[in-house]
Amino acid sequence: MTVCDMTELKEKIAENVAALTEGVLSAGEIAALLEYPPDAAMGDLALPCFRFAKGMRKAPAQIAAMLAERLSLEEIGRAQAVNGYLNLFVAPAFWERLIPEIVALGEKYGRSEEGCGRTVVFDYSSPNVAKPFHIGHLGTTVIGHSLKKLHEFLGYTCVGINYLGDWGTQFGKEISAFRRWGSKEAVEAGGVDELVRLYVRFHEEAEADPSLNDEARAEFHKLESGDEENTALWKWFVEISLAEYKKTYDLLGIEFDSYLGESFYTDKMQEQIDLLREKGLLKLDDGATIVDLSAYSMPPCLILKRDGSTLYPTRDIAAAVYRQRTYHFDKAVYVTSSAQSLHFAQWFKVVELMGYDWYDRLVHVPYGTLSIGGAKLATRTGNVILLRDLFSAAIEKCLAVINEKNPGLAEKEKTAEAVGVGAVIFHYLLNSRIKDSDFNMEDALSFEGNTGPYAQYTYARCCSILEKAGSAAAPGRCTIEEPAERILAKTLSRFYEVVKSAVREYEPSFVTRYILDVAAAFNKFYQECRILGADGQANLSRLQLVRATKAVLGSALGLICLKTPEKI
Ligand code: ARG
Repeated sequence: MTVCDMTELKEKIAENVAALTEGVLSAGEIAALLEYPPDAAMGDLALPCFRFAKGMRKAPAQIAAMLAERLSLEEIGRAQAVNGYLNLFVAPAFWERLIPEIVALGEKYGRSEEGCGRTVVFDYSSPNVAKPFHIGHLGTTVIGHSLKKLHEFLGYTCVGINYLGDWGTQFGKEISAFRRWGSKEAVEAGGVDELVRLYVRFHEEAEADPSLNDEARAEFHKLESGDEENTALWKWFVEISLAEYKKTYDLLGIEFDSYLGESFYTDKMQEQIDLLREKGLLKLDDGATIVDLSAYSMPPCLILKRDGSTLYPTRDIAAAVYRQRTYHFDKAVYVTSSAQSLHFAQWFKVVELMGYDWYDRLVHVPYGTLSIGGAKLATRTGNVILLRDLFSAAIEKCLAVINEKNPGLAEKEKTAEAVGVGAVIFHYLLNSRIKDSDFNMEDALSFEGNTGPYAQYTYARCCSILEKAGSAAAPGRCTIEEPAERILAKTLSRFYEVVKSAVREYEPSFVTRYILDVAAAFNKFYQECRILGADGQANLSRLQLVRATKAVLGSALGLICLKTPEKI
């Protein structure tokens, strides 16, 4: 990036401070110490000087005072020592140079090429076929996709993999349920709902008659041995499910590069099992084959069941090897609920013990579990909300609001879709990912306060101002005078830093919260600073700020999977 934004300014300051502080801390350490004071009266940036004290044998207040006097950078207008802090006020010229640069770069602002030549594979969404696609999958789907977009923004080559849960004993149950109570017509008409109905019924009936479980096991065994009829049924179940999932992915604007699911690895596990055996890692435990992980304070990783069939970890190991061979990834990121954290820790360790030198490129990104009304989500008891239903409710509500407030809007349906879906995603991505949460429909569909619709509306407001301004909004000079202008410029200057930390911490919520900062700063600026006069006179400088805000908001919203309608 050519722009001198907040990250670069911090580096400059840090180098300057390092030269004045006898090398007690490195420039990198100093840059990390620089913080944004909560109150603008305390400056744009502040450096706490406590960590220099010991090495320099001086009191922090003394060090701050020395730095305030001696720090000299054209970007810093004023420096002030207060209680051991060095408060820095950025010179207006810095913002005045930055804003036209943002305008010139447009949606390229904040991007970088630091990831160039490196490949990151994202395993996300990955629902289990013939089971409902519900709000429990919202996390993996939107966090996964947002992380992929964030990495792309920094130049990484990204591969999105939907590791469909398309193999396992549940297919034995589904096949036997279908034979007993299902029909081709009913499945064709009902799609996944009908498959789920059959699956739920199977569990109900198997409670009364456990022999059904043996029947299901036998059906799965037939499927595994390549039985033609069962294979055809299985393929059909997968197709029907995938068609349904794709409707939701379309709504979210998500495309995957690969849909290779668990079934793809059935013939790729033996090689890994042989290697495990060769390395002496396998142990028999009550008939099952395991890798003992007690030395690492973990329960054993299950490789083969008593009957010799493979398990979830076995397939994950084979899939990781395949992906390393196919994509030569620098990182493989798996996004799942934290309920699976142990599973990932176990098989990552097994990959290490197997001697694969890329074991440390495997990254598990967990997110908190979701409950409804305090209860766990459960397909069998019906305590689930389908993603499809959630999004339709959001779109419907949005359409009603548009019809009430802006009935003349062109493309009402399309806008309602963008805003309704956006509301749900924004709501979800606002909290740090690891937090457990209880799902509340009303909150998820709220349009008031700090919500997706508010953020999208702010973007649309920028568009409408620029449209009204016409040629007056052409790129030009920008002067920063009012506090509201300065705060907005400063907020915009943090974008790249936010993206970088979101990537480093695998945390899309950093971007979501940043969007709210931008929206708040823009709306204050809009209230306090006249942009377009009643007489048609436009403030050309302020229009540059509007353009820069539009660019940053547009990019940031895209990074968390929200669309950006120009009119709402
Ligand atoms: N299908 C699994 C589930 O719904 C998630 C798969 C996650 N990815 C993986 N490589 N294990 O729980």
